[in-house]
Amino acid sequence: MATLDIQIAPQRASAAGVDLDPSRLEFGKTFAPDWFVSEYRKGHWQNSRVEPLHNISLHPAAIVFHYGQSIFEGMKAYRWANGKAALFRPMENARRFMRSAERMAMPPVAPEFFVEAVKALVRADIEWIPREPGSLYIRPTMMGTETAIGVHASSEFLFFVLVLPSGAYFKETGSSSAGTVTVYVAEMTSRAAAGGTGDVKASANYAISLRTIEQGKKQGCSQVLFLDANGRREVEELGGMNVFFVEKDTLYTPPLDGTILPGITRDSVITVARDLGMTVEETPVRIDEAAEKIQSGRMTEVFACGTAAVVVGIRELVFESGRRLTIGDGAAGEVTRKLNSELQGIQFGRIPDQYGWIDLL
Ligand SMILES: Cc1ncc(COP(=O)(O)O)c(C=O)c1O
Repeated sequence: MATLDIQIAPQRASAAGVDLDPSRLEFGKTFAPDWFVSEYRKGHWQNSRVEPLHNISLHPAAIVFHYGQSIFEGMKAYRWANGKAALFRPMENARRFMRSAERMAMPPVAPEFFVEAVKALVRADIEWIPREPGSLYIRPTMMGTETAIGVHASSEFLFFVLVLPSGAYFKETGSSSAGTVTVYVAEMTSRAAAGGTGDVKASANYAISLRTIEQGKKQGCSQVLFLDANGRREVEELGGMNVFFVEKDTLYTPPLDGTILPGITRDSVITVARDLGMTVEETPVRIDEAAEKIQSGRMTEVFACGTAAVVVGIRELVFESGRRLTIGDGAAGEVTRKLNSELQGIQFGRIPDQYGWIDLL
């Protein structure tokens, strides 16, 4: 199915003289000089290589442009103070990519091949990993490239990986674990329904969230909280992060019922929180009940989590009706900060990894 035979182009662009100061790197805008790419033709992945990143040429009738046959992943490489470089749970991204491919009628990429591709590229561009609190954001992607009009699964695909030296995901929080964001509650639109693609990383999921994200931005919000498609009473997740609610020592988060993405950070938060003695319940969270508890002060923290920003506090919910609800005192709470520093501690090698999550390069 896949070959581990990856050709590495000899020429390397040096990072010497390039400004990789995390405080000046805007997320998603700076690309390291190389990419990994492999082509699926006649039932096989072939021509796998790491080479200088370049534009690609596709026929305007490529399947991806019309029918959106595209999936992706998001992961990071971290530079440790002792000079080592680490990936965080890369096999989990590889397995999720397999599930996304299967759901979107795309060919499998063997998890070992996926991780090898990522490692080959990160090793090639290792100088481009910024120092803490920055990281190298990794974007594996697959898309259908067959030239044909007519709704059907592509017979040809590109699997590629991009790497981006990155600073903070949210401009307003910077790299501080005490930063918080404002979130827009989507009361009129949903992003996923039972039987759909909410539990995989299909590009289509993001396309349908864009209009609501733009509406949220106009209200000063950097993320959108989506509710269930069947009545919009229960919380699902944010446009690019999972969500937790904190009441005393208990964390509540929506269950993996097929309409939300099984976040790798979500899973890590649950594990770490339980080991720190907290109770975590994966249970439906009703937005009206959560709002009532926030208002009365019983629910003191709400936080979002995902690879890009790790764990970030939510200071305010802004409803489409115009209602604004401040959470706690508007600052990142104790639980939020503790979980953020535990996870980042493991990722940056400051806290021993007792879970086998770190994969050194
Ligand atoms: C919709 C959505 N939910 C949750 C997450 C968080 O997932 P992870 O922790 O694996 O980055 C992401 C980011 O990938 C996402 O796009």
